[in-house]
Amino acid sequence: MKRTALVVGITGIGGNHVARELLANGWDVVGLSRRPPQDLPSVRHVAADLLDPAALASALAQVAPTHVFITTWMRQDTEAGNIRVNAALVRNLLDALSPRKSVRHVALVTGLKHYLGPFEAYASSGTLPDTPLRESQPRLPLENFYYAQEDEVHAAAERDRFTWTVHRPHTVIGLAVGNAMNLGTTLAVYAAICRETGRPFQFPGSEAQWKGLSDVTDARMLARQLVWAADTDAARNEAFNIVNGDVFRWSWLWPKLAAWFGVPACGYGGTMQPLAPAMANDHALWRDIALRHGLVEPDLDRMASPWHTDLDLGRPLEVMTDMANSRRLGFSAYQATDASFFDLFARLRAERLIP
Ligand SMILES: NC(=O)c1ccc[n+]([C@@H]2O[C@H](COP(=O)([O-])OP(=O)(O)OC[C@H]3O[C@@H](n4cnc5c(N)ncnc54)[C@H](OP(=O)(O)O)[C@@H]3O)[C@@H](O)[C@H]2O)c1
Repeated sequence: MKRTALVVGITGIGGNHVARELLANGWDVVGLSRRPPQDLPSVRHVAADLLDPAALASALAQVAPTHVFITTWMRQDTEAGNIRVNAALVRNLLDALSPRKSVRHVALVTGLKHYLGPFEAYASSGTLPDTPLRESQPRLPLENFYYAQEDEVHAAAERDRFTWTVHRPHTVIGLAVGNAMNLGTTLAVYAAICRETGRPFQFPGSEAQWKGLSDVTDARMLARQLVWAADTDAARNEAFNIVNGDVFRWSWLWPKLAAWFGVPACGYGGTMQPLAPAMANDHALWRDIALRHGLVEPDLDRMASPWHTDLDLGRPLEVMTDMANSRRLGFSAYQATDASFFDLFARLRAERLIP
């Protein structure tokens, strides 16, 4: 039977990579976002705002996807705001698709905040979750927009009789410009600035993150799991963690990242050294670097998200993720984490996004 994928959030770090993986596997792909993707010419683009139900229904009137991949969110100031807005994104989308009854499966991408709590509750929730994080851990007794999004998918699945999967990546490493959270590109821009200015390439985070075990999710791994789950009958109505499959310590990785850029590495030195204040006044500097090196994106805010890198690397515990749930069903992909960063850096350079 012919399958059409609707990738919601096609210009984002998750959506772009899942679209590529679907295309590589022969799927018809329709992509939805407000801005068009720059680099996916074989994707039919639907420009729509998920917060505008009438416009969304009309934009999707001629689209009858069999599979929907939801890789979108909008950051709000509070978790109450995140819940209101991000639940609405999912509800409006599934309501708009409901009349055609074409959807057989919906995959929702959330993340490890499912286990760690929302940004504003990091470290202040009293008890820290057990690591490695497992899908079987119960929801936290805290408000969380991921729970609200899951509940919207479950309710629509019941109404429209489709199956679902939820995918929970750790920090996603991959190419995206102008998206909300991108630790890999933020560190690449920071390293490039350090090389240009002679500033130390300083690890910004906590002692627990520096010394403890960690893992990350290459965006290509997330994409592979999403496509695997869409093709695997046994993987129905389940949540799956998704990480690279190795663990590392930032004390091991940081010098490797520094070496790639040819800058000296400065490790954790007794206190956190957040990136957001360190890069707050670098906008003119980045414009100048972009001009001198012929780079295509002179706007620092579209390249770097230091607020997120600080939260991620500042966590007061080691964070790593159990992969048993999809492995037991046959998902065996693996990605070396140092190569995730090096591949991203090489792509950023090839696309003239960093010097
Ligand atoms: N990035 C990470 O490191 C990371 C780590 C773990 C979990 N996650 C989770 O993964 C999920 C997906 O996030 P992501 O990082 O892939 O997102 P992202 O890179 O910020 O991309 C968001 C996508 O959604 C689209 N979008 C946003 N608002 C929209 C609206 N109102 N109407 C239509 N399209 C809209 C954006 O395109 P336009 O702006 O063009 O509309 C973009 O394509 C989120 O739940 C996030 O919390 C992300």
